[in-house]
Amino acid sequence: MTWPDYSAADARLEPRITADGSFSLWSEAFDQTFHSARGAVEEARSTFLAPAGLEGLAPGSNVAVLELCVGTGTNTAELLDRCRKLDLKLRWWGLEADRRPLQLALAEPLFRRQCSEQSLNSLDFLDESGTCKAGPMLWGDARQSLQALLPEIESQCDLVIHDAFSPRVCPELWSLEFLTLVARCLKPEGRIVTYCSAAAVRQSLQLIGLNQVGLPPPSGSGAHQWSGGTVASWHVLELTPPLQSFTAMEREHQLTRAAEPYRDPGLNGTSAQIHQFRQQQQLLGTGLSTSAWRRRWQGEAGLTDPGRFPPS
Ligand SMILES: C[S@@+](CC[C@H](N)C(=O)[O-])C[C@H]1O[C@@H](n2cnc3c(N)ncnc32)[C@H](O)[C@@H]1O
Repeated sequence: MTWPDYSAADARLEPRITADGSFSLWSEAFDQTFHSARGAVEEARSTFLAPAGLEGLAPGSNVAVLELCVGTGTNTAELLDRCRKLDLKLRWWGLEADRRPLQLALAEPLFRRQCSEQSLNSLDFLDESGTCKAGPMLWGDARQSLQALLPEIESQCDLVIHDAFSPRVCPELWSLEFLTLVARCLKPEGRIVTYCSAAAVRQSLQLIGLNQVGLPPPSGSGAHQWSGGTVASWHVLELTPPLQSFTAMEREHQLTRAAEPYRDPGLNGTSAQIHQFRQQQQLLGTGLSTSAWRRRWQGEAGLTDPGRFPPS
């Protein structure tokens, strides 16, 4: 396949085709792909929508969704389809820093083929007007956008889709302070759903007072991927598939230094500042050695790194 030239802007975005044949991008600025290599659409369905609890809502009901890091709009398109299928009235807010991923996706025949006509119309409309038919898109740093949006959506959301790049490269969207804002958007029974299973993120969600469960590793991912993500709610979550309790390995991970939260008190720190402060706190802390935990479980599970991105 011949791709158009995506390299014009400062930091390149390169096209990728994922294993299920769906479109994705790789970001030079973050040196990460936008989706799991196993499939962008597959990930939207199994990681974000399967645990979202939408099937439990009565047809005709309203559902309020905050989507963090809209990117190409793959999750948005799948969400729109699912709500239509379940006859749910979607209210949606999207946060994203970069307009290019959506524009590149919409210009890409492969992406257009993977979307339903109705979802594509909504995304085209979003690109032109800055508003999805279901609601507004706030362009800019999600930390500032969410502070501005909070008065409107506080305690309103049934679902938050959190799909930022991993904490290693984008700690600003996984800090205790940012996750506190995210949690304030939730209705009591609402859910945050993310692919991320980093101990620091789970520790922050726990400090905020949310209940959490895990997601199983994606089928066929092998023992190296030990979790498929995290779901958090103010309510105790019923363990209906795919939700599952944390395994012993996951619980033990929470006791290690890896569980030191990312801190961003002013919600304006740079990635380097956030990492530097966390490293200082890890040196002062009493957490167990993460390498010892890794060695211990490596033998049993072939453990490498959690979540979507392979170890660097
Ligand atoms: C993993 S990708 C999102 C993938 C997306 N859900 C999709 O389906 O294509 C992460 C996204 O976060 C955006 N991003 C990075 N830092 C951000 C920030 N501080 N605020 C808002 N968005 C940010 C990037 O531009 C990128 O589109």
